[in-house]
Amino acid sequence: MSFSPSTSAPATMASERPILCSLAGQKALVTGANSGIGRAIALALGAAGAAVVVNYLDDEARAEAVVAAIRDGGGIAYAQRADVSQEAEVQAMFRRMIGELGTIDILINNAGLQRDAAFHEMTLAAWNTVIGVNLTGQFLCAREAIREFRRRGVVPAISRAAGKIICISSVHQLIPWAGHANYAASKGGLMLMMQSLAQEVAPARIRVNSIAPGAIRTPINTAAWQTAEAHEALMTLVPYKRIGEPEDIARAAVWLASDEADYVVGTTLFVDGGMNRRLCPDRRFPHRRADRPQRLARLAVLAALRFRRLLCRPARRCRERPLADRAGGAQPARQPALCRRHAHSRD
Ligand code: BGC
Repeated sequence: MSFSPSTSAPATMASERPILCSLAGQKALVTGANSGIGRAIALALGAAGAAVVVNYLDDEARAEAVVAAIRDGGGIAYAQRADVSQEAEVQAMFRRMIGELGTIDILINNAGLQRDAAFHEMTLAAWNTVIGVNLTGQFLCAREAIREFRRRGVVPAISRAAGKIICISSVHQLIPWAGHANYAASKGGLMLMMQSLAQEVAPARIRVNSIAPGAIRTPINTAAWQTAEAHEALMTLVPYKRIGEPEDIARAAVWLASDEADYVVGTTLFVDGGMNRRLCPDRRFPHRRADRPQRLARLAVLAALRFRRLLCRPARRCRERPLADRAGGAQPARQPALCRRHAHSRD
């Protein structure tokens, strides 16, 4: 693949293909929706027919641009500022949404950030900010959504579920990440929060799932893809050999929120070009490379032993079961072929 530092999506990306699932009549809230993955999800939900609340913290103009794009496509949307780590702001955001749109059907818990540092240099502020937004923020928003889903219940004309929550996690809910302990801890915590919540509310027909993006071309990780060298290094981690685009996540989110995914509960959908598995045995088990000569030698010895046993087996069988001993002596004629071949070793 040729390197392209542009932030725009390649020609084959989702923006040029129609969104096939319908979310008509549903009301969605997307946190952190004025850029990156959140923005792409808000646009895709709008294109699928949902009314969208575009949450943001900074940069109101970008949030309004997302709202305008949804409205231009004939959709319903408005922008809402709120810091998801603050309980009162989250509650006010939900009150307005339920007041203006009537309810919430879909929560996309997307707002997230990184404050990277070596562990011994990490400040408490950097730790608390990341945990506050990435984990506590998801808790606060999910709690308000669950309260409304439980109050309202299933409306069959709208959806088979009483509500859907999609937590935007990361491959780092599984993959340790040196230099990013706060971020990895927030995503690891999110994984079990999502699974526990999914188990708890599934009987109320509320579906909770996660999407775990890998390396996606967004502002959060510009350093990982903007130069040719960084891009090349990144590609050694991605078996599919291309960086992800926000639209890759958006399509997955629309599907997961739709009734097409009605039986999908408590799972994490990795959208990462194979990054979390690497799909390459040598990379997952580096020791296998180091001891390859020894392993080959071991295999050769085992093969030789097996061959010797194969050669000798007929002879042993003949010794153990001589012709004369065979019950009834009914089929003696078939035995001698083996006996002739091994006659030299029998006596
Ligand atoms: C992080 C990115 C990173 C990617 C793969 C994401 O969760 O936000 O910065 O490039 O994981 O490591």
